Amino acid sequence: MPTLIGRLYLLLNLKYRRSRDLINQHLHHMIEQEFQEAPMMRAERKKISLIASLIASLQQDEKLEASKTEEDKKGLSRAEVLDEMLAFLMAGYSTTTAALTWFIHLVSVHPEVQNKIKKELAQYNMQSLSVEQLDSFSYLDCVLREVFRFVPPAFGTLRTLTVDDRLPSTGAELRKGDLVFIAIHNMGRDRRYWSGPVDPDQFYPERFLVEGNDINNNKAASIPFGGGHRQCIGQDLARFEVKAICARLMQRVTFGDGGPEVNSGEYAGDGGDATIPKRMGVTITFDSDYST
Ligand code: HEM
Repeated sequence: MPTLIGRLYLLLNLKYRRSRDLINQHLHHMIEQEFQEAPMMRAERKKISLIASLIASLQQDEKLEASKTEEDKKGLSRAEVLDEMLAFLMAGYSTTTAALTWFIHLVSVHPEVQNKIKKELAQYNMQSLSVEQLDSFSYLDCVLREVFRFVPPAFGTLRTLTVDDRLPSTGAELRKGDLVFIAIHNMGRDRRYWSGPVDPDQFYPERFLVEGNDINNNKAASIPFGGGHRQCIGQDLARFEVKAICARLMQRVTFGDGGPEVNSGEYAGDGGDATIPKRMGVTITFDSDYST
């Protein structure tokens, strides 16, 4: 029933319909642009672009495919491709925004962390960075891993059980069809998995400096992109873009704490599909360019 009311509400909501039309127009445009590429180019792009590989799977004859059984159908219909593209847009936008917002807040209240990042980047002053240079910033890696552990943009994820099961430690019975919530945020803060010298409720990137140390660096307990078959399809892109943006920001500006009243972090009550800070008021100082 709530789904029906939700659908009816959206159907009658002019603002929603206008936004949806606008997004659809852009998505159709992206499909057309992809078709304008030469076949050789499209085959190459398929290897490096999620969108190109989706479009490559568009059905040649939608009517024919629609007449087949689910098992026999080949490729995706245009509506399915559009839905997938929309899913990328939705799943990739708010999560990445949340990660960047938390990064800015956390470095603003931890100037010592911000200084260390800047030291790591110092030799490149403000110049553009290559992928290899980005890869070499191991302290920035630790900071981002800590941001994803401390405040994961996705609070948790869900799985529907396909078989009956029993939890080994408590014996709790689970039934096929049960919906299980995997609490990504809680796992990242659970003292049973993070028993190192620095409390998991503290933001402390150095805990990730010691590779292979299970006490400080519990890989299985920090799963910001989920896990298994349904883990985040955009995680490599997300990690890369977040790292590139943070590095470029840190080459140019210093974030300062705007004070407890405006910069307390906290969780916004309803952040949509990603957890964003409720209060993030920072000062921004533009750094000097030493090369000029
Ligand atoms: C910081 C950024 C991001 C975070 C923290 C994040 C996190 C997640 C998480 C936790 C899941 C659920 C995984 C599971 O249940 O095991 C997920 C699923 C998904 N994500 Fe991301 N994501 C991010 C960025 C992106 C980007 C950039 C894209 C696309 C370009 C994307 C596309 C998707 C899609 C399509 C799914 C659904 C996969 C499925 O159900 O099979 N995400 N993401």
